Amino acid sequence: MRITCIVAVLVHFFLITHALLPVKDFRVKGLANEIQGVKSRAVVNSWSEQVLSYSPDVVFTSLNNTQVLYTDDTNSIYYIYLILDDGHGYKQRFPLLLDTGSAVSWIYNQSCTSNSCQNNNVTKFNYNGNLKLGSTFSITYTNDQVDGTYISIAENNINMQLGRVTSDFKVQDFSLGLTSDSPSIFNGFSVSGILGITTDSSDENIVSQMYDSGLINKKVFGLYLTNPGQIYRGNVPAKELGGVVLFGQDVADNTKKFIGSNTVNYVDVVDNNNNYWLINISDTSVVSSQGESSNVISDSRLTIIDSGTTGIVFPFDDAVAIHKQLFGDTGYLNDQNGNFAFLCNYTNENIVFNVGGTKLSVSSSNFKGQAYTDPSLFGYCASKIQGLNNYGHWVLGQAFLKSFYTVFDLDANQIGFGQASLQSFGIEFGNESSSSASSSVLSTTCVETSTKSVLTTITH
Ligand SMILES: *[C@@H]1O[C@H](CO)[C@@H](O)[C@H](O)[C@H]1NC(C)=O
Ligand SMILES: *[C@@H]1O[C@H](CO)[C@@H](O)[C@H](O)[C@H]1NC(C)=O
Ligand SMILES: *[C@@H]1O[C@H](CO)[C@@H](O)[C@H](O)[C@H]1NC(C)=O
Ligand SMILES: *[C@@H]1O[C@H](CO)[C@@H](O)[C@H](O)[C@H]1NC(C)=O
Ligand SMILES: *[C@@H]1O[C@H](CO)[C@@H](O)[C@H](O)[C@H]1NC(C)=O
Ligand SMILES: *[C@@H]1O[C@H](CO)[C@@H](O)[C@H](O)[C@H]1NC(C)=O
Repeated sequence: MRITCIVAVLVHFFLITHALLPVKDFRVKGLANEIQGVKSRAVVNSWSEQVLSYSPDVVFTSLNNTQVLYTDDTNSIYYIYLILDDGHGYKQRFPLLLDTGSAVSWIYNQSCTSNSCQNNNVTKFNYNGNLKLGSTFSITYTNDQVDGTYISIAENNINMQLGRVTSDFKVQDFSLGLTSDSPSIFNGFSVSGILGITTDSSDENIVSQMYDSGLINKKVFGLYLTNPGQIYRGNVPAKELGGVVLFGQDVADNTKKFIGSNTVNYVDVVDNNNNYWLINISDTSVVSSQGESSNVISDSRLTIIDSGTTGIVFPFDDAVAIHKQLFGDTGYLNDQNGNFAFLCNYTNENIVFNVGGTKLSVSSSNFKGQAYTDPSLFGYCASKIQGLNNYGHWVLGQAFLKSFYTVFDLDANQIGFGQASLQSFGIEFGNESSSSASSSVLSTTCVETSTKSVLTTITH
């Protein structure tokens, strides 16, 4: 194989200068906020780019119905791009949190001056034509309310498509919210809003609108989040690559790439007023270093599958029971606010959720947060499982989703899970240069001139 770039192994270190919350979450507070005097270690996010002598077998061609999901430096959020364009000089591209727990999709209007609109380098809607406004909405995230006004993109002759690269792939109509508020949970994140996809097939649902526009033949989407240690090649820098989201027929066509077979196990969504992706988990066990314990939580629990939540949220008593069974009385700590930490040396304990007879296993490596350096917490890592009583349901967020290829089926009102087994993969992304400021010129050049030979190890 001809290698056009000379760099054998490049290791980048990306130092975040501000202290991070161990669990930086859209729905819950982090442990560092709650335990006085605790400082979390600044994260060193490292990744390596290596010239290897093989190409991955599995390649995703990213355009139209298969889209790259991006992530931030702390891997707290996963976002997708949306392009608005009026064909007469107005064109903007918005990074939006992909949120299966939110019924409204909205972006910051140019009138937004609150915290995250001012402090982050966010893109705000700056269309200057006359807009026909629709109805107003109000939505609450944790303790923040966001108020706004819908616009119909069809009525305003604005074109809309998903992705970073423009193609002819257009959603004909969509109700997009414009807001002047930014919820404080967004502080520190450079996203322009939320792309919410619940089970509700209305004008506010992008999947329904893609179907109505003839872009997909089924109202279904699939989600896959990347994992540490995976080998990847493509022209999205590894530290920005969060996963892939697929729509319509692409969901089934690519299933085997993620899970090694074509069979995902479906469970019905439980009817609920919020159109959440709500499922019934019938019992929950753990596999600890002591072996398997069945029925740690033997009752059933209604659970929201939520791509907009970083971690996992249980009521306090359930969170205690699970940590205790996994790590023993001395292997974990918690405070009264529902934050937990466990000894960092625990690496391969599993929680096993029984979903409609299928056992879904999540390893502690996926719910282990950052290590503490405070002497009183030395040796402990933050747990991404938090114990909060005011949610009413369990919430399984990204720490859970990372283990599966998850299929959200609006037609059948079901969610399917397949235990993901992807080790190495490539993404052939449309032609647009990387926007990453921190990725070095050397490696970017290398990727562009020698895409086939450069593989990167994902570290988040
Ligand atoms: C958006 O911002 C512009 C400029 O501040 C303002 O004139 C307009 O009323 C705002 N629209 C909405 C729907 O908030
Ligand atoms: C904001 O983003 C733009 C476009 O990506 C970039 O050119 C600029 O340097 C950024 N500014 C800051 C302060 O990060
Ligand atoms: C994307 O969609 C457009 C419009 O439906 C189509 O013309 C184009 O061929 C599609 N591109 C790919 C790569 O499928
Ligand atoms: C959840 O599953 C349990 C056990 O299978 C069952 O008893 C309960 O009725 C179910 N709840 C709902 C809301 O479907
Ligand atoms: C982790 O370390 C503690 C002591 O620091 C020890 O008691 C415990 O057995 C270790 N656990 C594992 C899984 O290695
Ligand atoms: C990318 O650009 C190259 C050269 O400009 C072109 O040959 C190729 O077809 C483009 N690929 C896509 C997917 O647009």
